[in-house]
Amino acid sequence: MSKKIAMLPGDGIGVEVTKAAKQVLEAISETYDINFEFSTYDIGGSAIDQHGTPLPKDTVKGCKGADAVLLGAVGGPKWDQNPSDLRPERGLLGIRKALDLYANLRPVKGFKQLVHASPLKEEIIQGSDLLIVRELTGGLYFGKPSERQDNGNAVIDTLSYTKEEMERIIDKAFQSAQIRNQHLTSVDKANVLESSKLWREIVEEKRKEYPDVTVDHVLVDAAAMKLITDPTDFDVIVTENMFGDILSDEASVLTGSLGMLPSASLAENGVGLYEPAHGSAPDIAGKGIANPIAMILSAAMMLRYSFALNDEANAIESAVESVINQNYHTADLNNENGQLVNTEEMTRLIIQAIKSVD
Ligand code: NAD
Ligand code: IPM
Ligand code: MN
Repeated sequence: MSKKIAMLPGDGIGVEVTKAAKQVLEAISETYDINFEFSTYDIGGSAIDQHGTPLPKDTVKGCKGADAVLLGAVGGPKWDQNPSDLRPERGLLGIRKALDLYANLRPVKGFKQLVHASPLKEEIIQGSDLLIVRELTGGLYFGKPSERQDNGNAVIDTLSYTKEEMERIIDKAFQSAQIRNQHLTSVDKANVLESSKLWREIVEEKRKEYPDVTVDHVLVDAAAMKLITDPTDFDVIVTENMFGDILSDEASVLTGSLGMLPSASLAENGVGLYEPAHGSAPDIAGKGIANPIAMILSAAMMLRYSFALNDEANAIESAVESVINQNYHTADLNNENGQLVNTEEMTRLIIQAIKSVD
């Protein structure tokens, strides 16, 4: 079996962690009977510097022609003052839209060994294991109009969704709940927003199609609180684009670090893109100390969701767990008794663990 993977390293630590994921996939290729063909494309700030656009046509073409896409992260202070259409983040939104990646799955599962790496109390986070299903191609991020008015003294950002856009992500979440612990929490702001009222109606309609799944509705402000006071109450969370963005960074605290959170961005029938939930981390970029685990676990999600390579995905996940169980950690994880390693060392340990299992 041979698979084409489009690599989009992007900016900052995106470059460092995609390098790590590639090395891990090469180790999988050496250990199992599978060949990966990697092609690298520009996106984000580095694409602006080289091509004058955050999303060159070649990048979109390369992604469309691949079997799956791995993306690091985009953005950085160098481009923060650019006009909106020349911001690195536009490249990310553009590729999500171009590939119709409406479903962003962000699993949040803490490793036992890291329970003390979180600032939250052990008894609160013990046993938490949830999945955030975030709508990814609608809402405020893609609202039209989105503009300055009145000589710059007023602004407008539009939150718009079609019923169909809501239905497909809600279906995805119900289906995810069916194969997990059959509980769905729909998060909205139905006490205020019209879009949330329609969202809630659709969840209520759809639940009839999934009688095995229990459902509750939680307003987003309360959900933000419950996520860190009662995280074990959640199984699958489904929510619109921006709420999902905010809640997933918050949920990463359960795992000890944003550097632990992988994600899959999926289309109905098309190429999937796999990206860590974190950004380009300009504060540590270039130091070689980024945690590569979110990216490496995203690569494992790619093997599972895009290629149905379950044994290989499990091999990566078990390797990560065994390295963490041996008490190795990167600097983002607070672990006084552990052994501090950098990106390269962490990657090498994970590769060693993959090779020793076989
Ligand atoms: P960030 O996620 O880059 O960093 C937040 C904090 O978490 C920083 O202190 C950073 O050092 C730390 N961190 C994040 N990932 C880490 C890792 N793997 N290992 C160790 N520490 C890690 O968020 P930010 O600082 O708000 O944003 C920086 C830039 O990244 C901005 O330009 C933003 O737009 C962009 N961004 C991009 C993506 C993406 O490409 N998917 C996601 C979020 C932010
Ligand atoms: C993420 C990021 C992006 C988002 C930004 C960089 C556009 O925060 O992937 O979570 O908000 O979707
Ligand atoms: Mn985010």
